[in-house]
Amino acid sequence: MEIIITPDPASASKEAARFLAALLRKKPHAVLGLATGGTPLPLYRELIRMHRQEGLDFSRCTTFNLDEYVGLGAEHPASYRRFMQEHLFASLNIPPDHIRIPDGLAADIPAHCAAYEQAIVEAGGIDAQILGIGGDGHIGFNEPTSSLGSRTRLKTLTVRTREDNARFFASPGEVPHHVITMGIGTILDARSLVLLAFGAAKAEAVAAMVEGPITAMVPASALQMHPVVKVLLDEPAASKLKRRGYYRDVFAHKPEWQRW
Ligand code: GLP
Repeated sequence: MEIIITPDPASASKEAARFLAALLRKKPHAVLGLATGGTPLPLYRELIRMHRQEGLDFSRCTTFNLDEYVGLGAEHPASYRRFMQEHLFASLNIPPDHIRIPDGLAADIPAHCAAYEQAIVEAGGIDAQILGIGGDGHIGFNEPTSSLGSRTRLKTLTVRTREDNARFFASPGEVPHHVITMGIGTILDARSLVLLAFGAAKAEAVAAMVEGPITAMVPASALQMHPVVKVLLDEPAASKLKRRGYYRDVFAHKPEWQRW
């Protein structure tokens, strides 16, 4: 894992955007894995700025989102489909038929999940997957005890995640119990992973992910098995890492040819 500790979320998000822009310029038909939540918002704003001001072109890329709430359609204000439309897709030139998000209204969920996995394979696999992290160490909606080899499937949210995400709903009781999420195995199949985490509330999960044992109790710890992972943090999110000094040293002395 490459741990990059940045002064603030804006700097971390610019690093992530630079990485994605370099990928898109090298491979215009790249497949991007996208995430929701508050964390990727500054990254999405930066991508929109690069699209408008620097001509960063998304017309040939394909996107796959990590997850969706079961029971929420595209028009529901808290659906991830709607979130993505508002915060990213409305402002970029990704062809609508290149955008894939699990369908929260799918009638046959296992068949839909299998088709989602198949669509990722047919698109050529995900080149770069953006990730946030839940306070309990979840990625996508893979809650603690998720199989580290899991594929896209139905999951039941924990009480904590439902409470954490209640801010996006009119009332806490409206947060669905069920979601469709890419599995940890699906995420690990991506060619590169970029995880963003900001704020002290994420510090414990970040430390467990980076420096703890690989365990289904901390789904993000599975990222230790992936060879190309960038973890972009602000100072508070990095505050519980024991080897902070080493990570700073690595980044400060990174050879020019390894930078993007
Ligand atoms: C949800 C999403 C995750 C996200 C997490 C953290 O559970 N499914 O993909 O990483 O929330 O959200 P936030 O970035 O708002 O802290």
